[in-house]
Amino acid sequence: MTDPVFLCRLDEIDDPGSRGFEDIDGTEPFFVVRQGDEVFAYRNFCPHYGAPLDWKPHAFLSYDKNQILCSMHGALFNIDDGVCINGPCPGKALTSIKVTVGDRGIYLADES
Ligand code: FES
Repeated sequence: MTDPVFLCRLDEIDDPGSRGFEDIDGTEPFFVVRQGDEVFAYRNFCPHYGAPLDWKPHAFLSYDKNQILCSMHGALFNIDDGVCINGPCPGKALTSIKVTVGDRGIYLADES
């Protein structure tokens, strides 16, 4: 069992907001969405066509910040479960990544 990997402080992400991560502890690129004190994390891989979702670094949310937006063909995903609710892949879901919020901020959860 290894120590959880520190990602960033909670207040380093806008509320609501998102932040992308790469080259972290051997994981595929992923992103974290913050809503208040809650965080949700998913692989940066759209289930429609496999494209990265962000249209610029760390930008994963729709304009109203109520959904996750894929910049390639406009799929919209629920923030809390990653399911596509509008666009070309309805019902398909982003792959979730386990993260936790601790004293110092957001950590990549230990999978072992
Ligand atoms: S690749 Fe994401 S909507 Fe098509």
